[in-house]
Amino acid sequence: EKGTYPHYMMKEIEEQPFVIRKIMSEYSDENGNMKIQPEILEDIRNCDKLYIIACGTSYHAGLIGKQFFEKIAGKPTEVVIASEFIYNMPLLTEKPLFMFISQSGETADCRAVLVKVKQMGYKTLTLTNVKGSTLSRESDNTLLLYAGPEIAVASTKAYTAQIAVLAILAAVVDNKIDINIFKELGKIAYSMETLCDDKDNYKLLAEKYLKDSRNCFYIGRSMDYFVCLEASLKLKEISYIQTEGFAAGELKHGTIALIEHNTPVVAVITQENINLNTRSNIKEVKARGAATLVISMRKLSQETDEIVIDDVNELLSPLATIIPAQYLAYYAALLRGCDIDKPRNLAKSVTVE
Ligand code: F6R
Repeated sequence: EKGTYPHYMMKEIEEQPFVIRKIMSEYSDENGNMKIQPEILEDIRNCDKLYIIACGTSYHAGLIGKQFFEKIAGKPTEVVIASEFIYNMPLLTEKPLFMFISQSGETADCRAVLVKVKQMGYKTLTLTNVKGSTLSRESDNTLLLYAGPEIAVASTKAYTAQIAVLAILAAVVDNKIDINIFKELGKIAYSMETLCDDKDNYKLLAEKYLKDSRNCFYIGRSMDYFVCLEASLKLKEISYIQTEGFAAGELKHGTIALIEHNTPVVAVITQENINLNTRSNIKEVKARGAATLVISMRKLSQETDEIVIDDVNELLSPLATIIPAQYLAYYAALLRGCDIDKPRNLAKSVTVE
């Protein structure tokens, strides 16, 4: 039930801090340490490469998961869109492990890959929000997301749940950089709450930048780039504004031709090593008339940045930066009179290929 919330999407956005805490409690042992089923750890440690298969928002979470597995656990990882894998299978290593990420656990594109790799005799693991779902039943092992039912078609809390579970999983497999995931996730949950408290600001920004816009660009580098892909999908699917999320460094290779007077460009900046370069991309689009909106992390922020998030671990920053982006999409859709929870042409679980 959505209770006092005007839409499921808002309810689900605001549940995210609780979902992070729920995940931390579900994935801890009696001493409060991170815990994952031993057979899953064994499969990941034994494989020579992880192949993450997913669609849409879950694919975007997978792109972030790859960073966790490679940077935290030192495990080579490739992320493939399920519907592409079928035609364009990457050259597989000797001992691959297939990981499916699916909120619903019912996505036909993922299931087609699952059936295929099982026939080939490979091990499989599913991350899903739905216990007993098709992908969960048919794969060797399952990790649950504990996000609670997600009703709005646009995925919000399942995305952050996927990222949180992926971070925990990577760190339990191997923690080469000695990151304290629980401590960092605790900070994230708190920061999410602070961000949710600022929603009036996001509404004003949506009104100023998006209400009457034809298009919108999201730019970022590294972890921020992956968030831009998801922020862009969120905005387009519920507000019908044409959007694009791309690597800030790619602007000058073509897309900058689309920047006109008042074109909204949202830039995300959370990492020290990309700050200066993304800032100069902002200047470039501004010089061509773009209306820029900056989401930055406090330690890197400038006075004119429209949205500032608390300092959190850079690798986990997508969990925080996606919150204002979800609200911007929500308010843009609201102000444009769109059906937020049930956007046109879309279904919550996609059971055709
Ligand atoms: C976007 C969205 C979709 C799903 C995609 C995969 O907000 O919800 O892009 O992420 O259809 O669905 P699942 O995760 O159920 O496999």
